[in-house]
Amino acid sequence: IPVDDFDLILFGATGDLAKRKIIPSLYRRFLAGQMPEGARVIGAARSELDDEAFRKEVREAIAEFVSKPKRKPEVIDAFCERCSYIAVDAMGDAGWKELHDSVRDEVCKAFYFSVAPGIFGPLAKKLREHGIACENSRLVVEKPFGTDLETARKLNAELAASFDEHQIYRIDHFLGKETVQNLMAVRFANVLFEPLWNERYIDHVQITVAETVGVAGRGSYYDKSGAMRDMVQNHLMQLLCLTAMEPPNRYDADMLRDEKLKVIRALDPLPLSDVVRGQYKEGDGHPSYREEAENEDSLTESFIALKVGISNWRWKHTPFYLRTGKRMSRRVSEIVIQFKETPHSIFERDNGSQANALTIRLQPDEGIDMSVTIKEPGPGGMRLINVPLDMTFADALDGGDEIPDAYERLIMDVIRGNQTLFMRGDEVEAAWAWTDPIIEAWTEKRDRPHGYAPGTSGPEEALMLMHRDNRRWRDLDI
Ligand code: BG6
Repeated sequence: IPVDDFDLILFGATGDLAKRKIIPSLYRRFLAGQMPEGARVIGAARSELDDEAFRKEVREAIAEFVSKPKRKPEVIDAFCERCSYIAVDAMGDAGWKELHDSVRDEVCKAFYFSVAPGIFGPLAKKLREHGIACENSRLVVEKPFGTDLETARKLNAELAASFDEHQIYRIDHFLGKETVQNLMAVRFANVLFEPLWNERYIDHVQITVAETVGVAGRGSYYDKSGAMRDMVQNHLMQLLCLTAMEPPNRYDADMLRDEKLKVIRALDPLPLSDVVRGQYKEGDGHPSYREEAENEDSLTESFIALKVGISNWRWKHTPFYLRTGKRMSRRVSEIVIQFKETPHSIFERDNGSQANALTIRLQPDEGIDMSVTIKEPGPGGMRLINVPLDMTFADALDGGDEIPDAYERLIMDVIRGNQTLFMRGDEVEAAWAWTDPIIEAWTEKRDRPHGYAPGTSGPEEALMLMHRDNRRWRDLDI
């Protein structure tokens, strides 16, 4: 869908996220012909740069984070022409008049806050005070959106003083991932799955987001956050909601978010016994978590596994097992829907064949596979084996190996005014309301995470979380 002219004002334009994700994504959309003639990017930050110095940073970001075939010198030059810079002080008066005079009232104005959450409120206020924000303005904010319910409420209130909810776009970049959107397509555009998508046919669901990276370079943020705040409250929660929610009546921002909110509100309180926290040790040529976080007494978790219950008709007896961690054996994000056995089996499952499982591979190797049971070929009798019905998107789709970055999709949605893939304020608050009590309980009892060796699938205790229910995690290394 084409977009209209816009001014995108990028606060925090000299920061890490701008360099790694936002600027490269804007460039790729420009290359794809999606930035109309009158679209402009205005970088804003405290540093005293001029347009040329900012353009140099833009070029560096493209050189480092855009793949070689997409780095076309004449396109980069033309993109840089669209970029300019204004030094703005969030707490003072510098730059605001200039910004006011630079942005155009007649086009969509998107203010992107790629800055520390502490200055979301002051920035929003300045935009309003200086008459820069108006009815056709949009505000984009990055996570972390608060560190608990109280801080998230405060942030929501600060933003609400200057912007309406329909103007606020809270990013959870997982929602911009193609395969995450595909989860909705698979569920709601096929008749095959929905009739089985409930506790009668599904034994349990596993959601894994495993990473091989550690926390080096961002330890000071991470150590105050941990896997629960950094990943579960937002990304894994969103995956859980999209998997568990009722079909919305329409693919409409508020209808979809209403359904997700209902899931969060139906989550059972989490007992300590259903959570396993881990922290990676030294090994595999890498320093320990504590060394990387520069906190030798740290009790922060770099891994977490949880068993989550949802108290509603659809899911009452189907647990959702979630796990995420750093320095694990493989980078993989996937959702496994483990179906139940047939009600009555006329065959003997004597050689390890199992009930059906639908695996949605979010990254890498995006695709879906369904394990089905068939007869093992040969004259040996009715022996059963599992084979995958595999659909790897890159094979099935032309250009499937060119899956766009989540940010490309999300930024264009902001310009189009489509909030479907962004979090609403009440959704974020409900997610914190669920995670807060367990974080408080750990803090109170000074809960110590279990150590785990890097390059593994986390602490042994996480395996036990499933074994005690006679279930097992899908092996990360296959
Ligand atoms: C971020 C977290 O939101 O998501 C990081 O803060 C994490 O800790 C990252 O590494 C994972 O995102 P992706 O897109 O690389 O899977």
